[in-house]
Amino acid sequence: MRGSSKRRPAAERSARLLQQQIELGGQELFLNRLTREEVFTHTEATKSGTADTLALDSIEKVKSLPVLPASYEELRSAALSCDRCRLSESRTQAVFSDGAVDARLVVVGEAPGANEDRTGIPFVGAAGRYLDLLLATVGMSRKDSVYICNVLKCRPPDNRNPMPDEISACSSFLKKQLELVNPQALLAVGSFAAQLLTGQEKTTLGGLRAEVHSYRDIPLVCTYHPAALLRNPKWTRSFWEDLQLLRAVLDSA
Ligand code: URA
Repeated sequence: MRGSSKRRPAAERSARLLQQQIELGGQELFLNRLTREEVFTHTEATKSGTADTLALDSIEKVKSLPVLPASYEELRSAALSCDRCRLSESRTQAVFSDGAVDARLVVVGEAPGANEDRTGIPFVGAAGRYLDLLLATVGMSRKDSVYICNVLKCRPPDNRNPMPDEISACSSFLKKQLELVNPQALLAVGSFAAQLLTGQEKTTLGGLRAEVHSYRDIPLVCTYHPAALLRNPKWTRSFWEDLQLLRAVLDSA
Protein backbone atom coordinates (compact mmCIF):
# COMPACT_ATOMS: atom_id res chain seq x y z
CA MET A 1 0.00 0.00 0.00
CA ARG A 2 1.37 3.40 -0.99
CA GLY A 3 0.31 5.12 2.26
CA SER A 4 1.94 2.65 4.66
CA SER A 5 5.25 2.59 2.76
CA LYS A 6 5.62 6.34 2.99
CA ARG A 7 8.84 7.17 4.91
CA ARG A 8 8.71 9.28 8.04
CA PRO A 9 10.69 12.55 7.94
CA ALA A 10 14.30 12.14 9.15
CA ALA A 11 13.77 14.20 12.32
CA GLU A 12 10.75 12.13 13.33
CA ARG A 13 12.65 8.88 12.75
CA SER A 14 15.62 10.19 14.75
CA ALA A 15 13.36 11.28 17.61
CA ARG A 16 11.66 7.86 17.68
CA LEU A 17 15.00 6.07 17.63
CA LEU A 18 16.35 8.12 20.53
CA GLN A 19 13.11 7.64 22.48
CA GLN A 20 13.25 3.86 21.93
CA GLN A 21 16.86 3.69 23.10
CA ILE A 22 15.93 5.63 26.24
CA GLU A 23 12.95 3.35 26.92
CA LEU A 24 15.28 0.36 26.57
CA GLY A 25 17.55 1.90 29.22
CA GLY A 26 20.46 2.74 26.88
CA GLN A 27 23.15 4.91 28.40
CA GLU A 28 24.71 5.76 25.05
CA LEU A 29 22.35 7.03 22.37
CA PHE A 30 23.08 6.96 18.67
CA LEU A 31 21.27 8.32 15.66
CA ASN A 32 20.87 6.18 12.57
CA ARG A 33 22.24 7.36 9.22
CA LEU A 34 24.90 9.46 10.96
CA THR A 35 27.66 7.48 12.59
CA ARG A 36 30.03 9.10 15.02
CA GLU A 37 32.90 8.38 12.61
CA GLU A 38 31.08 10.07 9.72
CA VAL A 39 30.53 13.21 11.73
CA PHE A 40 33.90 13.07 13.41
CA THR A 41 35.71 13.09 10.05
CA HIS A 42 34.75 16.73 9.71
CA THR A 43 34.95 17.78 13.32
CA GLU A 44 37.30 20.55 14.23
CA ALA A 45 40.46 19.77 16.15
CA THR A 46 40.05 19.21 19.87
CA LYS A 47 40.12 22.48 21.68
CA SER A 48 42.73 23.16 24.31
CA GLY A 49 43.63 25.69 26.99
CA THR A 50 41.49 27.37 29.63
CA ALA A 51 40.02 30.78 30.26
CA ASP A 52 37.87 32.40 32.91
CA THR A 53 34.54 33.73 31.75
CA LEU A 54 32.56 36.82 32.67
CA ALA A 55 28.88 37.33 33.40
CA LEU A 56 27.22 38.91 30.36
CA ASP A 57 25.47 41.55 32.41
CA SER A 58 28.68 42.80 34.06
CA ILE A 59 30.78 43.13 30.92
CA GLU A 60 30.27 46.86 30.50
CA LYS A 61 31.63 47.36 34.01
CA VAL A 62 34.86 45.65 32.98
CA LYS A 63 35.65 47.86 30.04
CA SER A 64 33.94 50.90 28.66
CA LEU A 65 33.10 50.09 25.06
CA PRO A 66 31.45 52.26 22.40
CA VAL A 67 27.66 52.19 22.43
CA LEU A 68 26.28 49.77 19.85
CA PRO A 69 23.62 50.68 17.27
CA ALA A 70 20.02 49.97 18.21
CA SER A 71 18.79 48.43 14.94
CA TYR A 72 19.44 44.80 14.04
CA GLU A 73 21.00 45.49 10.62
CA GLU A 74 23.29 48.19 12.01
CA LEU A 75 24.31 45.91 14.86
CA ARG A 76 25.15 43.16 12.37
CA SER A 77 27.22 45.55 10.23
CA ALA A 78 29.06 46.82 13.31
CA ALA A 79 29.93 43.23 14.31
CA LEU A 80 31.09 42.33 10.80
CA SER A 81 33.52 45.26 10.75
CA CYS A 82 34.50 45.07 14.44
CA ASP A 83 38.16 45.43 15.39
CA ARG A 84 37.80 45.55 19.18
CA CYS A 85 40.12 42.62 19.78
CA ARG A 86 43.07 40.73 18.29
CA LEU A 87 40.79 38.15 16.62
CA SER A 88 39.88 40.70 13.94
CA GLU A 89 43.46 40.37 12.65
CA SER A 90 43.38 36.61 12.14
CA ARG A 91 39.76 36.04 11.04
CA THR A 92 38.64 35.64 7.43
CA GLN A 93 35.32 37.21 8.38
CA ALA A 94 33.19 37.74 11.46
CA VAL A 95 30.29 35.31 11.93
CA PHE A 96 27.17 37.01 13.26
CA SER A 97 24.26 34.56 13.17
CA ASP A 98 22.07 32.18 11.22
CA GLY A 99 18.37 31.38 11.37
CA ALA A 100 15.17 33.28 11.89
CA VAL A 101 15.43 36.74 13.48
CA ASP A 102 11.94 36.26 14.95
CA ALA A 103 12.84 32.81 16.31
CA ARG A 104 11.28 31.31 19.45
CA LEU A 105 14.63 29.82 20.43
CA VAL A 106 18.15 31.26 20.41
CA VAL A 107 21.05 28.80 20.60
CA VAL A 108 24.34 30.30 21.80
CA GLY A 109 27.60 28.47 21.05
CA GLU A 110 31.22 29.27 21.72
CA ALA A 111 33.02 30.67 18.68
CA PRO A 112 33.32 30.10 14.93
CA GLY A 113 35.60 27.31 13.75
CA ALA A 114 37.35 26.93 10.40
CA ASN A 115 34.17 26.17 8.41
CA GLU A 116 32.32 29.10 9.96
CA ASP A 117 35.25 31.47 9.41
CA ARG A 118 35.27 30.45 5.74
CA THR A 119 31.50 30.64 5.13
CA GLY A 120 30.43 33.39 7.55
CA ILE A 121 27.67 31.11 8.95
CA PRO A 122 27.68 29.65 12.49
CA PHE A 123 27.55 25.91 13.14
CA VAL A 124 28.01 24.68 9.55
CA GLY A 125 30.60 21.98 10.33
CA ALA A 126 30.05 18.50 11.73
CA ALA A 127 29.02 19.76 15.17
CA GLY A 128 26.51 22.12 13.56
CA ARG A 129 24.95 19.38 11.46
CA TYR A 130 24.63 17.19 14.54
CA LEU A 131 23.07 20.09 16.45
CA ASP A 132 20.54 20.66 13.63
CA LEU A 133 19.59 16.98 13.69
CA LEU A 134 19.13 16.94 17.46
CA LEU A 135 17.08 20.17 17.41
CA ALA A 136 14.90 18.70 14.66
CA THR A 137 13.98 15.81 16.97
CA VAL A 138 12.13 18.34 19.15
CA GLY A 139 10.61 20.08 16.13
CA MET A 140 13.00 23.06 16.05
CA SER A 141 14.79 24.29 12.94
CA ARG A 142 16.82 27.33 11.90
CA LYS A 143 14.49 27.67 8.89
CA ASP A 144 11.75 29.13 11.05
CA SER A 145 12.12 28.69 14.81
CA VAL A 146 15.81 28.79 15.75
CA TYR A 147 18.38 31.61 15.68
CA ILE A 148 22.01 30.57 16.23
CA CYS A 149 24.95 32.70 17.28
CA ASN A 150 28.11 32.49 19.36
CA VAL A 151 29.76 34.13 22.36
CA LEU A 152 32.62 35.20 20.06
CA LYS A 153 31.94 36.43 16.54
CA CYS A 154 35.47 35.70 15.28
CA ARG A 155 37.43 32.47 15.13
CA PRO A 156 40.19 32.05 17.71
CA PRO A 157 43.39 30.87 15.94
CA ASP A 158 43.70 27.07 15.86
CA ASN A 159 40.29 26.85 17.59
CA ARG A 160 41.82 27.65 20.96
CA ASN A 161 39.48 28.61 23.81
CA PRO A 162 38.18 32.18 23.97
CA MET A 163 40.22 34.49 26.22
CA PRO A 164 38.51 36.61 28.89
CA ASP A 165 39.38 39.93 27.20
CA GLU A 166 38.00 38.62 23.88
CA ILE A 167 34.77 37.61 25.60
CA SER A 168 34.46 40.99 27.26
CA ALA A 169 35.16 42.84 23.98
CA CYS A 170 32.57 40.79 22.08
CA SER A 171 29.83 40.29 24.67
CA SER A 172 27.95 43.49 24.09
CA PHE A 173 27.13 42.23 20.58
CA LEU A 174 25.59 39.09 22.05
CA LYS A 175 23.73 41.05 24.70
CA LYS A 176 22.20 43.38 22.11
CA GLN A 177 21.46 40.47 19.76
CA LEU A 178 19.48 38.70 22.50
CA GLU A 179 17.64 41.91 23.33
CA LEU A 180 16.63 42.45 19.68
CA VAL A 181 15.67 38.83 18.88
CA ASN A 182 13.94 38.52 22.27
CA PRO A 183 13.25 34.77 22.09
CA GLN A 184 10.97 32.70 24.32
CA ALA A 185 13.86 30.46 25.37
CA LEU A 186 17.64 30.23 25.24
CA LEU A 187 19.85 27.17 24.84
CA ALA A 188 23.51 27.61 25.81
CA VAL A 189 25.73 24.88 24.35
CA GLY A 190 29.10 24.40 26.00
CA SER A 191 30.58 25.88 29.13
CA PHE A 192 31.58 29.30 27.73
CA ALA A 193 28.02 30.19 26.71
CA ALA A 194 26.52 28.55 29.82
CA GLN A 195 28.81 30.34 32.27
CA LEU A 196 28.45 33.68 30.50
CA LEU A 197 24.64 33.61 30.31
CA THR A 198 24.10 32.30 33.85
CA GLY A 199 26.83 34.52 35.29
CA GLN A 200 28.14 31.44 37.14
CA GLU A 201 31.69 31.49 35.88
CA LYS A 202 33.04 29.01 38.40
CA THR A 203 30.35 26.35 37.95
CA THR A 204 31.01 23.44 35.63
CA LEU A 205 28.61 22.61 32.83
CA GLY A 206 27.60 19.47 34.74
CA GLY A 207 26.44 21.75 37.54
CA LEU A 208 24.54 24.10 35.21
CA ARG A 209 22.67 21.64 32.99
CA ALA A 210 19.39 19.84 33.75
CA GLU A 211 17.63 22.90 35.18
CA VAL A 212 15.97 26.03 33.88
CA HIS A 213 17.90 29.25 34.57
CA SER A 214 16.85 32.75 33.63
CA TYR A 215 18.69 35.32 31.55
CA ARG A 216 16.95 38.71 31.81
CA ASP A 217 13.62 36.91 32.37
CA ILE A 218 14.15 34.57 29.40
CA PRO A 219 14.20 30.86 30.40
CA LEU A 220 17.66 29.42 29.77
CA VAL A 221 18.71 25.77 29.47
CA CYS A 222 22.41 24.87 29.43
CA THR A 223 23.79 21.70 27.90
CA TYR A 224 26.82 20.08 26.30
CA HIS A 225 28.36 21.44 23.12
CA PRO A 226 27.54 19.20 20.11
CA ALA A 227 31.28 18.85 19.36
CA ALA A 228 31.70 17.41 22.87
CA LEU A 229 28.91 14.91 22.14
CA LEU A 230 30.79 13.72 19.08
CA ARG A 231 33.85 13.09 21.24
CA ASN A 232 31.86 11.63 24.17
CA PRO A 233 28.70 9.93 22.88
CA LYS A 234 27.74 8.90 26.42
CA TRP A 235 26.71 12.53 27.03
CA THR A 236 24.05 12.30 24.31
CA ARG A 237 21.51 11.01 26.82
CA SER A 238 22.00 14.11 29.03
CA PHE A 239 21.75 16.35 25.97
CA TRP A 240 18.52 14.60 25.02
CA GLU A 241 17.10 15.17 28.50
CA ASP A 242 18.07 18.85 28.35
CA LEU A 243 16.30 19.12 24.99
CA GLN A 244 13.13 17.66 26.55
CA LEU A 245 13.38 20.29 29.29
CA LEU A 246 13.75 22.98 26.64
CA ARG A 247 10.76 21.61 24.72
CA ALA A 248 8.66 21.75 27.89
CA VAL A 249 9.73 25.38 28.44
CA LEU A 250 8.72 26.27 24.87
CA ASP A 251 5.44 24.38 25.16
CA SER A 252 4.51 26.36 28.23
CA ALA A 253 5.52 29.75 26.76
N1 URA B 1 31.27 25.65 17.48
C1 URA B 1 30.68 26.74 18.00
O1 URA B 1 30.60 26.90 19.20
N2 URA B 1 30.16 27.62 17.14
C2 URA B 1 30.19 27.48 15.83
O2 URA B 1 29.68 28.34 15.12
C3 URA B 1 30.82 26.33 15.31
C4 URA B 1 31.35 25.43 16.14
